[in-house]
Amino acid sequence: MPKILVDGCEYEVREGANVLEACLSAGLDLPYFCWHPAMGSVGACRQCALVQYQDENDTRGRIVMGCMTPVSEGAIFSLGGDRASGFRKAIVESLMLNHPHDCAVCAEGGECHLQDMTVMTGHRDRRYRGRKNTHRNQYLGPLINHEMNRCITCYRCTRYYRDYAGGIDLAALASHDHVYFGRHAEGTLESEFAGNLVEVCPTGVFTDKTLVGSYTRKWDLQSAPSVCAGCAVGCNTLPGERYGKLKRVHNRFNAEVNGYFLCDRGRYGSGYVNSDARLNYPGLRDTDGRFNALDEQSATAEFASLIKDKRLAGIGSPRASLESNYLLRELVGATNFTAGVSSAEQAMLNQVAEILVATSALVPSIADVETADAVLILGEDVTHTAPRLALALRQSVRNKAYEMAAELKLQSWQDAAIRNLAQEQRSPLVSMAPGSTRLDDIAEIKRHLAPGEIATGAYALAEALLSAPSSDVDETTSVSEIAAILRAAKRPLIVAGTSLCEPAIADAALKIAEALSSSERRVMLSLIVPEANSLGQALLLEQGAPDLSALTASAEAGEIDTLVILENDLYRRVPGAEVDRLLNAVPDVIVLDCIETPSCSAASLVLPTATAIESEGTFVSMEGRAQRYFPVFPVSEGRRSALQWLLSGAAAAGIDSFAQLQHVDDVVTACAAAVPALSRINDAAPGQEYRSHGMRIPRQPHRYSGRTAMRANVSVHEPKQTQDEESPLSYSMEGLNRDEPGSLLPYVWAPGWNSNQSLHKFQAEVGGALRGGTAGVRLIESNSGAYASSGVSASPRPTSENALELIPRPRIFGSDELSALSEGLSELIPRAYLEFSPADASLHGLEAGDGVTVDGGTVAFEVRIDPQLRQSCVAYAPGLAGCQELKPRTVVQIAKAQDWERDNAALIASDGGVS
Ligand code: SF4
Ligand code: SF4
Ligand code: FES
Repeated sequence: MPKILVDGCEYEVREGANVLEACLSAGLDLPYFCWHPAMGSVGACRQCALVQYQDENDTRGRIVMGCMTPVSEGAIFSLGGDRASGFRKAIVESLMLNHPHDCAVCAEGGECHLQDMTVMTGHRDRRYRGRKNTHRNQYLGPLINHEMNRCITCYRCTRYYRDYAGGIDLAALASHDHVYFGRHAEGTLESEFAGNLVEVCPTGVFTDKTLVGSYTRKWDLQSAPSVCAGCAVGCNTLPGERYGKLKRVHNRFNAEVNGYFLCDRGRYGSGYVNSDARLNYPGLRDTDGRFNALDEQSATAEFASLIKDKRLAGIGSPRASLESNYLLRELVGATNFTAGVSSAEQAMLNQVAEILVATSALVPSIADVETADAVLILGEDVTHTAPRLALALRQSVRNKAYEMAAELKLQSWQDAAIRNLAQEQRSPLVSMAPGSTRLDDIAEIKRHLAPGEIATGAYALAEALLSAPSSDVDETTSVSEIAAILRAAKRPLIVAGTSLCEPAIADAALKIAEALSSSERRVMLSLIVPEANSLGQALLLEQGAPDLSALTASAEAGEIDTLVILENDLYRRVPGAEVDRLLNAVPDVIVLDCIETPSCSAASLVLPTATAIESEGTFVSMEGRAQRYFPVFPVSEGRRSALQWLLSGAAAAGIDSFAQLQHVDDVVTACAAAVPALSRINDAAPGQEYRSHGMRIPRQPHRYSGRTAMRANVSVHEPKQTQDEESPLSYSMEGLNRDEPGSLLPYVWAPGWNSNQSLHKFQAEVGGALRGGTAGVRLIESNSGAYASSGVSASPRPTSENALELIPRPRIFGSDELSALSEGLSELIPRAYLEFSPADASLHGLEAGDGVTVDGGTVAFEVRIDPQLRQSCVAYAPGLAGCQELKPRTVVQIAKAQDWERDNAALIASDGGVS
C-alpha cells in the first residue's frame, strides 16, 4: 500500500484510490461536493483542493483536486495550509453567491452538506452585494420538492439520475450561471429511483415532499435500524419518527445490499404506518355482527378462550416477521400452518427455496450483481419486481467500460473519462419478457415472448450450452447468440423469478446456471420472489404443509375450530369466492393485522398489530440474507406486535410449549433450533444483552430537543423514557452510537458532519463496509451439491387464434399492499388497466383509453397498448384495485365496456413509454 504525506503526517492508503478518498478514509476532513463514493469523480466543484508538492524541495506546490488525483508512493500534500484552505474558502464563497441563505426555512437545514462544508472551510461573511440569480421551481410529482435557487451546480443530481439510474427526464438545462437542473416541463419525475435525489443533492434543491406537511429536523427524529418491507430485496433503511408518527425513511448503508440507494417504494412506501387504515383497538364481534372495542387484557383473554383446547389452523404471511410466523406455526402445529399465498405461488416459492439450496451457482448479493459481465433476465421486469436489483443491473452493464478503462490504466473512479471512453459500449444484457421492460434501454438483446415460450427458450439455451455451439434452434429466441454471450462471460448472471407464475422459468434458469458452471466462471443465479419475507416463509414451511386449498378442504370437513390469520389479506391472494368458502367453514376466525382489510370482516376477534417500523423481527431476503429490524418507536396503546399477541394469548391459554418464550430473543433462538434452514438467524444481529462500551445504542441523536415540551399539553412532568426490554437500543439520547455492529446502526452523524455524508465516519474505508460489519447473515451459502431437475415443463400457448392469456406484470407502485396506502406514493398508482399488443388491440377493435371487461365481469379496465407485448398475451398489474378477481395465466374473453369514459390520456402517455 502506498504511503502519502499530508501536512507532514504519513498515511498508508489504498492502492488505486484518489487523494480525497484517501484523506477521508484516514479521518481527515477534506471538503467536497461533486464526488460521490458510488459515482466517482468528475472534478466539477473544485471544493476538494489541496496543494501538491513535487518533492521536499518544492516550496511552491500546485493546487490539485483531491478527487481527481491518484495516490502515489511518497506524494506530498498540504490540506490545512493557507493556500489550500484559502482556495477552498474562495470556492465556497463563489458557490454561495446566488444561494438564498434560507437555511432557517430549508428542509435540508441541520443536515445539509453545503452548511457543513461552508462551516468547515471557514466561509462566514458574504461580501458580494449584487443581485442574486433566481429560478422558478418546478412541480416534480408528489414525492419531491424542487427549490432551484439553492443549487450550487455540483451536477451530482444529473449524474445520479441519468448516468447512474438511467433516467432521461432530468437534465442540466441552459448554460453559464443560468444552468438549471430540472425537467424540460413540469411533471412527475419518471425514474423509480428519483427519491435518492433527496440524499444525493448536497443542498436543499431536492427535498422530501411527503415530509414537508409535518416537518421535523434531523436532530429531532428518533430512528432505528430497519429493513424495507416493500419487496424481497431487503434494503436497509433508517425510518425517522417524531410525536408517534413516521416522518420519513432514509437509506441505511449496507455494502452488500442497497449500498447508498433505495427505490421510491422503499423510501416513500411506509406511509401506511400513519394511515387511517390502521387498526387502533382490539375488536370482538358481537352476536349482531358489530365489533366492540376491547382493552388489551380482555382481548388477550378472548384470544386465549378461542384457542384453548381447540383444533387450530394458522395462515402466516410473507409480510410478517419470521418470528411471528414461527410462533403461529408452533401454536397451531406445523401441519396445520400454511404460508397464506395462493397454492400456485406457494409451490413456486418452495421450488425457489429448493433451487437456492441445491444450486452450485452463487446466489448473489446486490454487490455481487454489480460485478456481472453478462446478464440474462428470464421473464422479470426487474424494476417492478425487485427494484434495487434493477439499479444494480444498470451498474453491471458498465463492466465493459471498466474493462476498457483498466486496459488504459484509468482508475475506476475516473467517471467522466470512463464514460467518454466507453460511450454506448456495455456488457451484454439479454432480456426475455412478455413485453417492454424498464431495462430495455440497456438490453443488447430483447425477446418478447409468452411465459411458456420464455421457459422453452431457456431450456433450449441450457441444452445449447451443454452441447457444442450450434445454429439457432429457434429464430425467436436467438439461442445460439445468447449462448455465445454467456459462454464468453467470466461472471454471468441469470435472473429469473416467480412474477409470471411459470415455474418452468426458474427451473430452466437453474439448468442454464448449471450448464454454464465451470472452473473458469463464477456463475450467479438470482431468483426474485415477491415479498419481504417470501423466502423466509418458504424455508419455515414444513415439508407437506397444507396450502390454502388443502386448508379450505379441512375447514369444510369440520376439522378446524379456530383459524388464526397473521397479517394477511386473503382476498388479495385468491379469488374472493375461495376465501369466503374457507372463512365461512370455520366457526371462529382471529385476525392479527396492522391495517383493516376485507379479511377482518369475517373475524370473531381482530387484534391490531405493530408494523415492521414499530416492532422487532427478521426478514429473509431473496438472497437468503436474514436481517433484523428494530422498532423505531414504541407501538401505541391498544396495539401490540403480532409476536406479543401470540405470546400473551398462548400464555393465557396455558399452552406449555410457550412457557419458555418471553422475549424476541427467545423466539429467535427457538426458531433457529427448530428449523435447520434458519439455524443461523441468531447471527443476524446481537441479542438484547449486547452493549457498546457498556452502554445501549441511542435512537435519539445528541441534539434531540423538546423531550419535556413535546408532551406539555398532557403534563409538564417529563415521563420516564420508555424502556426497551427487547433490544440493545434505547428510546433516548443516552448511550453511544459508536463501534456497534452494523446491524445496530441507528443513524449517522459525526462532529462537523451533520448530513448523511457523515457515513464515511462509520465505514472502515470510504465507500466500504461499515466498521461494525455488514448487517445480516447469509442463510444459504453456495452449494456444490448435485441438482436434479424438478421435471416441470413449460406451459403451452393457447391454441385458438384470438385467445388471450392473462399475464401478471407487477408494478412498483400499486402491486404492493402496504406501500399503496402511503400518502404521495398512492398518487402514482394508476387505475386498473389491461395491456394489449397492437395486433390484439386491432383484432378486438380496441384503442388506448377504451374500457374493457374480462369474462363478463363488472370491473372495467382501461386499455393500454404495449407495442412490444407478445401477441395473445394480455397483461394486468396485480394488486391494483379491481384486479383481485383476475386469475393469472388463464385464457380470458374480453368485451368492450359500455359507458366507459375515455380520459386519462396524459397519465397513459407519461407512464414509462407504454401508451
Ligand atoms: S440540484 Fe443539487 S445536486 Fe443538482 S447540481 Fe444543484 S446542488 Fe448539485
Ligand atoms: S428495492 Fe425493495 S427492499 Fe429495496 S427499497 Fe425498494 S421496495 Fe424496499
Ligand atoms: S469533489 Fe473534487 S472537484 Fe468536486
